[in-house]
Amino acid sequence: MKKLTQLAAILLAAFSGPTAMAQVAHTKPQVLVLIYSDTGGTYALAREVAAGITGDGSVDATIKQVKGSPKSDLKDVPVATVAELARYDGIAFGSPVYFGNISTPMSEFLSQTGDLWSAHALEGKPATVFMSAGSGAGKELAFQSFWGSLAVHGMLLMPNGIRGVEGLDKTVPQGNSVLGASTLASLKNVERPTLGERQIARDQGRAFARVVSALRGALPASSSEVAAVTEVPKAAITIREALARMGLALPPLPKPAGNYSPFVRTGNLVFINQYALKDGKILHPGKIGVDVTDAQAKESVQATMLNVLSVLNEAVGGDLGRVKQAVQLTGVFNTIDTYADHARLMNTASDLAADLLGERGHHARMTLGANSVPGQSPVEIQAIFEVE
Ligand SMILES: Cc1cc2nc3c(=O)[nH]c(=O)nc-3n(C[C@H](O)[C@H](O)[C@H](O)COP(=O)(O)O)c2cc1C
Repeated sequence: MKKLTQLAAILLAAFSGPTAMAQVAHTKPQVLVLIYSDTGGTYALAREVAAGITGDGSVDATIKQVKGSPKSDLKDVPVATVAELARYDGIAFGSPVYFGNISTPMSEFLSQTGDLWSAHALEGKPATVFMSAGSGAGKELAFQSFWGSLAVHGMLLMPNGIRGVEGLDKTVPQGNSVLGASTLASLKNVERPTLGERQIARDQGRAFARVVSALRGALPASSSEVAAVTEVPKAAITIREALARMGLALPPLPKPAGNYSPFVRTGNLVFINQYALKDGKILHPGKIGVDVTDAQAKESVQATMLNVLSVLNEAVGGDLGRVKQAVQLTGVFNTIDTYADHARLMNTASDLAADLLGERGHHARMTLGANSVPGQSPVEIQAIFEVE
């Protein structure tokens, strides 16, 4: 049965164009090392964990943050999206200890994974945890609460056991725990993480890579194999399900605010126009560059594009497979005269189309600024899709 599923994935990939093929063509298992780090302790451990994972060359590791940081050592570390978690064969999570718990940014990131949870997207995926503490107070509690969150997702949690004691300098306090590597960053007069802590983090990575390799392809649906399959064919998947796997919720069908239809289909083309309505209100109303920051504008673009997809969902009876091509997106932004960053804001909508539809999501595009947009929406999007 497993062989059949794998064969189906390969065949579907082969018929779905180069991008889709690339998604399943990874010969090596892929591990995400997902961290939050403020003062760099967790990042130092993450580099050791990643080095352990990639050590024998059979598994790839990518370090990403849950939140961007302006700090010099962290500013180039990419930021992960919630949706991408489902694509990895295993995830090593790293966070500072905050008040005997997971750090707030990591906790906020995990609290956005509700849609992954309802789609069982992380179920059966291997996970391991490492943490940077100050004095170490409440460190074990923090590990346990991290494990608790990942257990709710049904992830397979790999502890570290007692490792490397032979090589540890026992005259220096060490932060390690049986649940995962850790450092006691606030202890003075010795480099942190200590050599021993670094070695144990590396060993954790090495052991985790073995578990990830062993489990790759051995798990039933819902793990990496199914994530790859579901990202490729699209047919028989609803738009709602596909968005859920990306960590996004399909909003309710927006009601027309005037004498027009939510969409018009002519031939095989569907025309849709939407603006930044969310929970019955305009999200971040006002002028970009005056009342609305770029970050808020991006949120509004995402809300608008989700409204577009809600209407598209209606137009194709929910079936993502019936969407043949995103043809054109037009973004109208409520901006001051001198604003010039429309294209970058619009990428949020374009990326969403591409993430949802793969090759079929690539579209022509126009963006422009306007002096006013209905309801003070910061953005309005017109979308044209070819459908079956
Ligand atoms: C709000 C807050 C709460 C903290 N609570 C704890 C704690 O309960 N126990 C502990 O050992 N360290 C605690 N710390 C210290 C951090 O865990 C420590 O500085 C850690 O090394 C930071 O990791 P980073 O360098 O990756 O940011 C706390 C730090 C902050 C900012």
